[in-house]
Amino acid sequence: MSDNLKRAAAERAAELVADGMRLGLGTGSTAAHFVTAIGERVRGGLKVVGVPTSEATRDQALREGIPLATLDEVPELDLTVDGADELDDDLRLIKGGGGALLREKIVASASARMVVIADGSKRVPKLGRFPLPIEVVPFGLTATERAIGKLLESLGMTGELRLRRAADGAPYVTDGGHFILDAHLGRIDKPNVLASTLNSIPGVVEHGLFLGLASGAILATGEGLVELGQL
Ligand code: A5P
Repeated sequence: MSDNLKRAAAERAAELVADGMRLGLGTGSTAAHFVTAIGERVRGGLKVVGVPTSEATRDQALREGIPLATLDEVPELDLTVDGADELDDDLRLIKGGGGALLREKIVASASARMVVIADGSKRVPKLGRFPLPIEVVPFGLTATERAIGKLLESLGMTGELRLRRAADGAPYVTDGGHFILDAHLGRIDKPNVLASTLNSIPGVVEHGLFLGLASGAILATGEGLVELGQL
């Protein structure tokens, strides 16, 4: 059921794509449906160029035959379509459950439009139920973790910081060679304050709060598609 909903949102997003567009290709199970849909259209003659947000998406897009470029070759994009782990009604997002938040944020920031695709369960009244991914440099991990902990405390937030691990128990390593601390906060009352202060900690590379980046969202529910913002 959930996979059908993800596919429905992705196929609606594929309708937004026109000839000549420069596309940011998101990461995750929902974005993978979008890449599949674009692949089908490319094989039918659509002319686009894609910039993938992860090695996994790059591999899938290559298999689909989608022409790809790096963000250095195509530094301004028309549209990025990506999934999310949570979104609220102001189109603020938590991303990074799949570990690709850094490239996802760089690509979304280089896009004129970002449209989120998700099943309706990702919509929340308040962000924070999903653990916030914070990408950190491996050097000085303990010091960085303590600095994040102190920052959270100063903002009146409590919750465990957990180093993300791969299936073999070793620390999970992002495409950029960094680690991820997942902050189990429960609720984030002031996402803007948290976002800007996290960015000020040395050792923090990026975090999964995407604020002011998404212009629209397509949510697939059992009752049909719900569209938010500007697609
Ligand atoms: C990848 O790092 C994430 O930001 C994904 O976009 C997010 O986790 C959504 O993934 P699903 O579509 O698989 O739920």
